[in-house]
Amino acid sequence: MSLQKPLPHDAAPLHVSGAARYVDDIPVPAGTAHLCFGLSEIAHGRITAMDLDAVRSTPGVLAVLTATDLPFANDVSPSVHDEPLLADGTVHYAGQPVFLVVADSHHAARRAARRARLDITPLPALLTIDDALAADARFEDTPRIWTRGDPDAAIAAAPHQIDGTIEIGGQEHFYLEGQAALALPQEGGDMVIHASSQHPTEIQHKVAEALGLPMAAVRVEVRRMGGGFGGKESQGNALAVACAVAARATGRPCKMRYDRDDDFIITGKRHDFRIAYRAGVDAEGRIQGVSFTQYARCGWAQDLSLPVADRAMLHADNAYHLPHVRIESHRLRTNTQSATAFRGFGGPQGMLGVERLLDHIAHRLGRDPLAVRRANYYHDSPPARSGPGTGRRFGAAHSPAAPAPQTTPYGMEVTDFILHAMTDRLAETADYAARRERVAQWNAANPVLKRGIALTPVKFGISFTLSHLNQAGALVHVYQDGSIHLNHGGTEMGQGLFQKVAQVAADAFGVDAGRVKITATDTAKVPNTSATAASSGADLNGMAVRAACLTIRARLADMLAEKHQTASEAVRFAEGRVTVAGADYPFEEVIAQAYLARISLSSTGYYRTPGLSWDRIKGRGRPFFYFAYGVSCTEVVIDTLTGENRILRADILHDTGTSLNPALDIGQVEGGYVQGAGWLTMEELVWDAQGRLRTHAPSTYKIPACSDRPGVFNVTLWGAENPAETIGKSKAVGEPPLMHGISALMALSDAVAACGDGSLYPALDAPATPERILAAVARQRGRQWP
Ligand code: MTE
Ligand code: MOS
Repeated sequence: MSLQKPLPHDAAPLHVSGAARYVDDIPVPAGTAHLCFGLSEIAHGRITAMDLDAVRSTPGVLAVLTATDLPFANDVSPSVHDEPLLADGTVHYAGQPVFLVVADSHHAARRAARRARLDITPLPALLTIDDALAADARFEDTPRIWTRGDPDAAIAAAPHQIDGTIEIGGQEHFYLEGQAALALPQEGGDMVIHASSQHPTEIQHKVAEALGLPMAAVRVEVRRMGGGFGGKESQGNALAVACAVAARATGRPCKMRYDRDDDFIITGKRHDFRIAYRAGVDAEGRIQGVSFTQYARCGWAQDLSLPVADRAMLHADNAYHLPHVRIESHRLRTNTQSATAFRGFGGPQGMLGVERLLDHIAHRLGRDPLAVRRANYYHDSPPARSGPGTGRRFGAAHSPAAPAPQTTPYGMEVTDFILHAMTDRLAETADYAARRERVAQWNAANPVLKRGIALTPVKFGISFTLSHLNQAGALVHVYQDGSIHLNHGGTEMGQGLFQKVAQVAADAFGVDAGRVKITATDTAKVPNTSATAASSGADLNGMAVRAACLTIRARLADMLAEKHQTASEAVRFAEGRVTVAGADYPFEEVIAQAYLARISLSSTGYYRTPGLSWDRIKGRGRPFFYFAYGVSCTEVVIDTLTGENRILRADILHDTGTSLNPALDIGQVEGGYVQGAGWLTMEELVWDAQGRLRTHAPSTYKIPACSDRPGVFNVTLWGAENPAETIGKSKAVGEPPLMHGISALMALSDAVAACGDGSLYPALDAPATPERILAAVARQRGRQWP
């Protein structure tokens, strides 16, 4: 009864009234110290001397630590121990923490950190993709390559050949709450950490290593984040470890929060990419053979770059069947921030490669881009599952001999494809064909303002590609009064996971969601958790919570069945009451009975995703439990005199299976689209020739504001259940909608194309800032730019 209800986010009143407690709001004990890193201003170099006297003598400073003051592991890497907390002899990027100031106030620590004199002998710095390629600096010895069929022959034999390259910028997470951590020393050297982290277990692990303690001596608590977006999977390790080692060194509680500029300068961002493509297509634009070469700029440390780059490869097909295909991936090492997880985790970049190719094909052949996209879609899969729409379907529903499912480049059968019907529906509700006509008429009549429209699909694979991460645990207590205490391994970052999972628990007990107490994520309650990431939070933790609740419920049912001499299955839990053999008890009365009967009212729950098998080296297997789908249509207008642009209208149809909570899911789709469109149209990171990030505050780095949202914004959920056995037949929703932002970039490309005689493909790079649009318009009009 609680599932599928559009209940508000459990903390919404706290968020909007300012009462929601974040790490920085936790009242700290007397004597708490505050930390600040001293940073390298050099992108690559050897530290020859550090004069920290002025730092130490700054009023309020309690201690200053360098790498040599760390008695145990000097490492905050989530992967291969290549990321020292404090630079160890060499600095690898401008912004790298070199020393740590411990002071009696946040401002004293910051003031003191500025007063160091670091002698760093510069070494050659690799800043760009080209620098790294020239130096052959990479994280795997050779590029990773997955091939199916004979792409070179298929390209050569095709009627048309098309090639090109797209540069794709990175993206700063810009979570509203910056990185923060608080360490509270306990008796016997134990440590309690409060962190703004998507991955409490990773924090526990890294803090334990840094203190030379077993993980059992460290407890990490996360109530919520003010946004994470992937930027708090690994990037919070440094703050938590710094607080822990400083707390150990001084005996004081220690707290650290980055100021916004430091957050920009220190932490990793979305990987920027270059993707080169070469394809052979037939007269309808169907891809016969294709080759993608993906270059990922990973920054100085490995972090999560290998799985991010893998996911880019895994989404090089997006929604399209690529019969002969080669995907090559270069994971390049540069002297810049270590690029990290960001909503979509490489998927958006990979997907953008093929979307750009399809846009290019349509332009070359003079065909409608949507028609070209549809000609390349995977077949609907037998047994065809129609959505609630009336769409055209390929496949076997009505034909006796069902064609075999098509497979992705990595050999996974696509058995749940629903984009034909979804595309039909969105094209209809967004009035795509007629509006495309009107855009053409507008453009014919208006020389200065040009419009563009595009409709693009999303198919996103759900599961961690590191298969062992697809597990979760939960802990549920029912107290004597019938109130329910809910805990699980997932973290709350605004996405509404806690509310959804509370609805799962309420549903299992047949009670109102208000009876379920949501509690902070705590490594002492549920151990060995995975990061809340890969959009799998509700899938994994929802199932684990359900398992815990069903265990308790079964004990209650057994108790009542015995009392009423009937079968346990005859006991029903609904609407806050429990009925059995004509008797009808309030839920809390059953709980009171169970307590007196000495029945355990507490249980853990556990879940692991079935059926996954994946070989990332060969690029073969079934990395995903299922796919989430969506389509979006964006209309834009550009000013050809200034390059300025606006999104006039966006229509999105998104597949969340049977939504656990449609209100929260629509919020995820809206936010994802705006964040994706921001990435591709306005958010630009600029490093100078010395490798210093020059865009490190909202003054220079533009994220979408409220006024940038589409003038008309229609978001609809598709509503067909997930054929896979997921919690409530729902689908993951966190990341997939970000990729609807691609339709905004493609609409801008369409508008730019309208500025010339139609012969030149705009080849817009991302982000399509006003400058880039102006340059592209100039190219269309046969002028050099600048
Ligand atoms: N939504 C909000 N409001 N804030 C966030 O930080 N992170 C995104 C997405 N939606 C995020 C968000 C990312 S990167 C992921 S992986 C998922 O939420 C994680 O949560 P889920 O697995 O519960 O969907
Ligand atoms: Mo999301 S990038 O998987 O944290």
